[in-house]
Amino acid sequence: MERAVLVGVSSLVLAASGLALASGEAGDGVGLFAANCAGCHGATGAADTAAGKALKATALNDAKWSGLDAETLKGVIRGHPKHKAVTGKVSDADFEALAAHIRHLAGGAAG
Ligand code: HEC
Repeated sequence: MERAVLVGVSSLVLAASGLALASGEAGDGVGLFAANCAGCHGATGAADTAAGKALKATALNDAKWSGLDAETLKGVIRGHPKHKAVTGKVSDADFEALAAHIRHLAGGAAG
């Protein structure tokens, strides 16, 4: 089970990185999200990946996240035990771009 989830995460992260590169969307929030978040939360934020379903990751393509700010996101990533694996991979300077991309996925302002 755990191995299946890990294999799922890495192949989905790779697939998502390819998508992000192909989309040509501005800002590195796309790349950061694809590399660090999409394995669980899905490239579209729907959390419909194998790992996302197994871990019950939150869907981020919900209007609820359309006003997400960098400080709140930082708290989520630095403070939530489910994000232990990624907390060291994103720097404080990355949260603004990541929050902007999540607002975009949620249908809010792209930032
Ligand atoms: C290993 C899988 C995994 C990865 C990778 C991951 N998350 Fe999550 N995330 C989760 C899970 C599971 C939850 C649900 C936590 C809970 O409430 O139980 C979650 C919840 C969240 C939430 C909602 C928190 C709340 O207050 O409800 C946000 C926002 C979020 N993640 C953002 C991100 C961002 C941004 C990244 C990349 C930097 C990321 N996540 C990477 C698994 C992951």
